[in-house]
Order: sequence, then C-alpha cells, then structure tokens
Amino acid sequence: MSAAIKPAALLAGLVAVGLSAWPAAPAREIFPSDLGPRTLGGAGGMPEGLRGGFSLALVRCGTCHTPARALHHRYAEPDGKNLPDKEAAVSSLKADHPEFFREPWVWQVEADIWKRCVDRMAAKSSSGIGEGDARAIHAFLVWDSDRRKLGKAAGAWKALRESLLRRFKARYPDRWRKLEALDAL
Ligand code: HEC
Repeated sequence: MSAAIKPAALLAGLVAVGLSAWPAAPAREIFPSDLGPRTLGGAGGMPEGLRGGFSLALVRCGTCHTPARALHHRYAEPDGKNLPDKEAAVSSLKADHPEFFREPWVWQVEADIWKRCVDRMAAKSSSGIGEGDARAIHAFLVWDSDRRKLGKAAGAWKALRESLLRRFKARYPDRWRKLEALDAL
C-alpha cells in the first residue's frame, strides 16, 4: 500500500502536517538549557517538602520539552515570604553579587520570574499542570535557584551555563542568532 503513495504526495503531506502543527512547533524549538542533564544529581539535602515538587517538575515540565529546559534555564528567583520580600532579596543580591546581573545569559534574577514562567506554562492548553502542581513546582524551582544558581554553587552554575551556551552556539548557529536577537537565550 505504501507503494501507492507517490513521493510528491508524501512530501506535500509532510509539509501539510508541518504547517498544521505550527502552533505547537515552538515546543520543539530548542533552547540552550535543553542540552543540559535531564535531572539533578544529589537530591540529597533537598528538604522533604520539596521532593514532590522536584518529581512533578521532571514529569510535568517534561511533557512538551525536555525537563532540562526548566532545570537549566537562566531564570533565578530568590526565596522569600512574599513579593516585597523577594524584591528586597533581589536588591541585596544586586549590591552583594553584581556579577549575577552582568551576564544575562547565565542569570536572569527577578522576584517573580519562576512564578510567571510556571503560570505561563500551566496555562498552555493540555499542559496537565493544575494549581497544586504549579505551586509545588514553583516552590522547588525557587529553592533550586537559591541553592544552585545564587548560592555557594554559583560558580559551578556559571560553568554549566557557559558550556551549554558554547555547545548550543556551535550546534544551532541560526537558532542562537534568533534567540540572541530576542534576548531569550
Ligand atoms: C503544554 C506544553 C508545555 C509544558 C507542559 C511546559 N512547557 Fe515550557 N515551553 C513550552 C513551549 C511551547 C515553549 C517555547 C515557547 C514559549 O515560551 O511559549 C516553552 C519554553 C520554556 C522555557 C524557555 C523560556 C521561556 O520562558 O519561554 C522554560 C524555562 C520553560 N518552558 C519551563 C517550563 C516549566 C518550568 C514547565 C513546568 C511547570 C514547563 N515549561 C512546561 C511548552 C510547555
């Protein structure tokens, strides 16, 4: 039966599928963070109450793209009781760690950056992310920002991000230029 399908028709079909799938295509458009590990080593030290959020992040934030996109993106949101608290934390970081604000492809530190990202992802159709899941994932991503990106391990984070950016630029130069122009690396 496949013999009945002419190559030209097959090609047209593929093009049509490609076009009809267009609105979902950005999920398959790669980001530097996608090249990182799909999980985190050393869940040891992770507070009991955040392990659920970590597991949910791996599953729920890994349905449309790899969970690595969430784990290794430049977003960093400090811990705090509420938004004003977190804004104060960002101000102290600006004073004490100006380096976190000098390399925007390595760090994007904002008081509600993960909250906005998680809410935006959850709002995508068929995200499968309910309010409870979103809260748990957000709590994990904030903890992970403090521990891995803004804390003592910040040097290792910078090294990881720089290696992802280097590999990404070499492998996907066109996509690099596009994301660079959009300030979305
Ligand atoms: C329903 C599909 C879907 C799910 C589920 C999903 N994402 Fe995404 N994600 C996308 C798409 C599509 C893009 C690229 C375009 C865009 O930003 O909307 C993206 C891009 C991203 C980016 C790149 C930067 C940005 O803000 O665009 C990050 C970071 C990210 N997702 C994190 C997450 C996290 C965290 C979760 C889990 C809470 C998640 N994603 C779940 C579809 C999804």
